[in-house]
Amino acid sequence: MENFKYENQTKIIFGKGTENDVGSLVKEYGSNVLLHYGGGSIKRTGLHARVVKSLKAAGVNIFELGGVVPNPRLSLVYEGIEIVRENKIDFILAVGGGSVIDSAKAIGIGALYPGDVWDFFTRKAKVEATIPVGVILTIPAAGSESSTSSVITKEEGWYKRAVGSPVMRPKFAIMNPELTLTLTQYQTACGIADMLSHVFERYFTNTKHVDYTDELCEATMRSIIKHALMVTNNPNDYNVRSEIMWEATMAHNGLLGVGREEDWASHAIEHELSGIYDIAHGAGLAIVFPAWMKYVYNHDKDRFVRFANKVFGVSVEVDMDKTINKGIEELENFFEKIGLKTKLKDVKIDRLRFEEIAKKATESGPIGRFVKLTEKDVLEILNLAYE
Ligand code: NZQ
Ligand code: ZN
Repeated sequence: MENFKYENQTKIIFGKGTENDVGSLVKEYGSNVLLHYGGGSIKRTGLHARVVKSLKAAGVNIFELGGVVPNPRLSLVYEGIEIVRENKIDFILAVGGGSVIDSAKAIGIGALYPGDVWDFFTRKAKVEATIPVGVILTIPAAGSESSTSSVITKEEGWYKRAVGSPVMRPKFAIMNPELTLTLTQYQTACGIADMLSHVFERYFTNTKHVDYTDELCEATMRSIIKHALMVTNNPNDYNVRSEIMWEATMAHNGLLGVGREEDWASHAIEHELSGIYDIAHGAGLAIVFPAWMKYVYNHDKDRFVRFANKVFGVSVEVDMDKTINKGIEELENFFEKIGLKTKLKDVKIDRLRFEEIAKKATESGPIGRFVKLTEKDVLEILNLAYE
């Protein structure tokens, strides 16, 4: 096991009706708040009105910026930074999913930085400080509600890039599973593919003697799969929605990755796909991950046999390849059962830009740590993912 420090400042407030207390929570941090949200779901569901009521009752001044789109854009981040600076905003409240939270985090770090916020995403500058951010989560998926990172898309060149720093963890995350009952099956499934992938990125590691966190990863993967199948048949079950919401946070709050090297190549490849083709992040991962597994499994067959056996209950055969391939097949079947595609051609992505994607994904050098992937490797994975 490697040395590690673990600290997570995000206070979780979980359960029915918890969003109604947001005003008093925000008031602990500031009195001029930027209320940041997406394309309108929070207005349709009545959540926006409840949040405004609670903020007003706490005596907080509200400035609003909606319009965050999935794969959130840099141009809106710039707009948010202007609003924060002009109005002396001291707190940003993100109401929505990963896209809204990531946009809020980028505004938070950008507002205190004299240069271009994109410098953080290109590693020209290091994040030192942020305007505090709080969250009301409406979709369990990205785990951004208690993660250290933000992922933003720059329209010029369609670069989707991430930045991370411990200071970027939100101060609090209000998580009411009732708010997720309005999600479509497709949105729910994309979220499930993402949270499962956050565990994969940690589970496939070269670090030895991390058996305890391996077991935690396996339990988390099995639970996500179980509840994903349950929610597909019974989308209005509050208790199942609760399980999924907590699993999404646990998958990406850092606990499952302590003391071990993490991979993140599949995320890097997917970010190029969603940057260029604007597909949902989880939809892209459901395609990239099985292909990545097929390409890298020879590197550590024992690990992939364990995965097939402990996560999908595949019986261990003498022929390791057989067990491993059955495990990957089970994963693909699972994604398809919840309504996702597992091939690029089925989401209408052709081969035309594969070389460009492979080049962009590896422009700062090889990606991934379990197996280091070059441009040529990424191209092979894209070909495996095609059909
Ligand atoms: O914009 P609105 O109208 O709110 O609609 C959203 C959006 O269209 C809708 N939605 C959200 N909550 C809803 C709802 N619709 C009905 N009822 C509700 N309760 O869902 C759609 C997707 O929302 P989005 O925020 O894009 O989803 P998600 O949470 O999956 O976030 C994806 C983004 O997070 C990034 C991804 O790359 C992607 O850009 N990630 C962020 C990470 C992080 N910061 O730690 C890690 C992840 O690996 C990921 O990369
Ligand atoms: Zn993800």
